[in-house]
Amino acid sequence: MNKISDRINNLAISATLAMTQKSRDLAAQGFDVINLSIGEPDFNTPEHIKKAAKEAIDNNITFYPPVPGFPSLLKVISEKFKKENNLDFSPEQIVVSSGAKHSIINALLCIINKGDEVVVPAPYWVSYVDMVKLAEGVPVVINCELSNDFKMTAGQLENAITPKTKALLYSSPSNPTGDLYSKEELEELAGVLAKYPDIIVISDEIYEHINFSGKHQSIAQFKAMENRVVVINGVSKAYAMTGWRIGYMGAPIEIAKACTKLQGQFTSGACTIAQMGAETAISAGSEVCKEMTKVFEKRLKIVLEHIKDIPGFIPNSPQGAFYVFPDVSDYFGKSDGKTLINTSDDLALYILSEAKVATVAGTAFGSPDCLRISYATSEDNLNEAFARIKKVLGKLN
Ligand SMILES: Cc1ncc(COP(=O)(O)O)c(C=O)c1O
Repeated sequence: MNKISDRINNLAISATLAMTQKSRDLAAQGFDVINLSIGEPDFNTPEHIKKAAKEAIDNNITFYPPVPGFPSLLKVISEKFKKENNLDFSPEQIVVSSGAKHSIINALLCIINKGDEVVVPAPYWVSYVDMVKLAEGVPVVINCELSNDFKMTAGQLENAITPKTKALLYSSPSNPTGDLYSKEELEELAGVLAKYPDIIVISDEIYEHINFSGKHQSIAQFKAMENRVVVINGVSKAYAMTGWRIGYMGAPIEIAKACTKLQGQFTSGACTIAQMGAETAISAGSEVCKEMTKVFEKRLKIVLEHIKDIPGFIPNSPQGAFYVFPDVSDYFGKSDGKTLINTSDDLALYILSEAKVATVAGTAFGSPDCLRISYATSEDNLNEAFARIKKVLGKLN
């Protein structure tokens, strides 16, 4: 008998985590690997946040927390939504979880029945499709074009909707592309959704603060979207707190209550010490993110300059997060005499083995012609990584 359930056997391993592991394994064998597969800021958590967590330990804030989060943290998040996004989520509409990833699966498990369709524009974040499947939903993927910076159009959204559509799930700024929707583009999408009032939107805004083009926009701002958007956010990316595992949602009250019920059976709430750190991070505001964002923007320019120099790499035009997602399909069918490249997976593995640079193939994000390159690493690393990539790509013809 199979010890493992079909549910888990059918689940894919996170490709980004797998690539990160491969590059760590090579590094452990003594190779000098540059990791451009990573999805986390390369900065340390700011001191004032660490201090708050240390104080939480000293003050014995170490007992089980309230399941949706400490009331003081829920209040701070509610105020953040109002101040930064002009969105009204009362503290009762907020649920704090162990990372934004956890918030997303909570939302899906609470709204999806078996066979419900969830529209997911591709390129999508690596976990969305498997999370939908875990919730017994059916992912309906929209293939978005590089010519539209990988964003779905109102027409594409309309075509993907059927009587079975329960939800739309996407991120902006996007992982893996770094592209983001403008207010006008979101308004057009909201215009389509206005005709389908039962569809819930899960809007993943975890990269909100890493935005090079001005003010972050949420689809929740539009009248037609009232009381049917689950806004996902967290502290991992904005405050360099990936290991603290704190994410949150602002949601219609029934969904927030359902997520609290689910979480009550799963985790009993998020780590108390990390919650205290997150409260300090969010209440101190986003000034600290601005410094990091400036650094990311500078690196993006460097990376785009390098990509311009690589024949056959067609970049998109990222405006946020810390990823570039070039089309690399020009290399398919090429070989260095030993290795034949047929897919972006082949290319990512070739670059890892020959150049010792880790990237992630677009396959994992539903766009197999592309490669995700993260620039959450130093300028020196980026310059060295691209010198190596150019050298090994030059051997393919
Ligand atoms: C688009 C997107 N959503 C959610 C997450 C998960 O964030 P967290 O670390 O808070 O679970 C990530 C992390 O890579 C992400 O890229």
